Amino acid sequence: MIRVQIPATTANMGPGFDTLGMALKLFNIVEMEETRAGLQIDVEGDGAEKIPRDPGNIVYIAALRVFKHTGYEPRGLRIKIINNIPVARGLGSSASAIVGGLLAANILSGNRLGEKALINLATEIEGHPDNVAPALVGGIVVSAQADGEVKYSKIEPPAKLKCIVAIPDFVLPTKLAREVLPQSVSLSDAVYNIGRTALLVTALMKQDFTLLATAMDDRIHQPYRANLVPGMKRVFAAAKLAGARGISLSGAGPTLIAFCDHNTDLIASVMKDTFLQSGIKARVLELEPNPVGAIALEVMK
Ligand code: HSE
Repeated sequence: MIRVQIPATTANMGPGFDTLGMALKLFNIVEMEETRAGLQIDVEGDGAEKIPRDPGNIVYIAALRVFKHTGYEPRGLRIKIINNIPVARGLGSSASAIVGGLLAANILSGNRLGEKALINLATEIEGHPDNVAPALVGGIVVSAQADGEVKYSKIEPPAKLKCIVAIPDFVLPTKLAREVLPQSVSLSDAVYNIGRTALLVTALMKQDFTLLATAMDDRIHQPYRANLVPGMKRVFAAAKLAGARGISLSGAGPTLIAFCDHNTDLIASVMKDTFLQSGIKARVLELEPNPVGAIALEVMK
């Protein structure tokens, strides 16, 4: 039986829309084993009732891609998903399912695909690399698509960086959160985001948290998504007042993520209370960046 652990991820990190992401210490588990025949999918944990147990399951879809690429033909398959990453909240649950399916199927079929091939396949399924790349390799990953493949570079998360996530009690499908975005942006908004994305990457590499408030600001997706997350702007302002170094939507939302190095308890309670003032119940967690990506926990034949 193959058992892999895949981290949650936070994508965009403010301005780095579809290009920046970071792995977090919150994990899903995918188990996979070959059986004599048929398909059995079991799911437990957070949101288990929303996850399909049929061939539409994304772990299974990802596994099939690997089998197709490697020519491996399992007689039957049993998949078990232990879900700890909230579904459709902006913490990379679908990326973790894709990466879990790819990695487990790759091990099952003899480890024929390397890291780059797995990132390319994962990006083909997800549509953008910003969650799947850090889910697979860990840390903070900058990625861009070029010539039909993903070019990526990993940086180590700053040692003192803590993240507070406020997870609203409603789901926001990424598809919906992408439909509200414009198809083109102005040159000044593009320049605004290019400068901040570059600043964010250098600030994180140099562990200079004083730049994060500016560097995590964005004009190309968050302003359009604000209407989908009641209280977003108020929580941003309140978290900064409480000492957060920077704050953004996590991925497509609705989760908000604050980067901090002090006052974590205060920032967490302020984010929860401010959401509540807008009528939104939110669960608040303190999560550390995860420097490593998906790993196999056990391989037993
Ligand atoms: N970059 C993606 C978005 C992340 O913001 O839509 C969510 O999958």
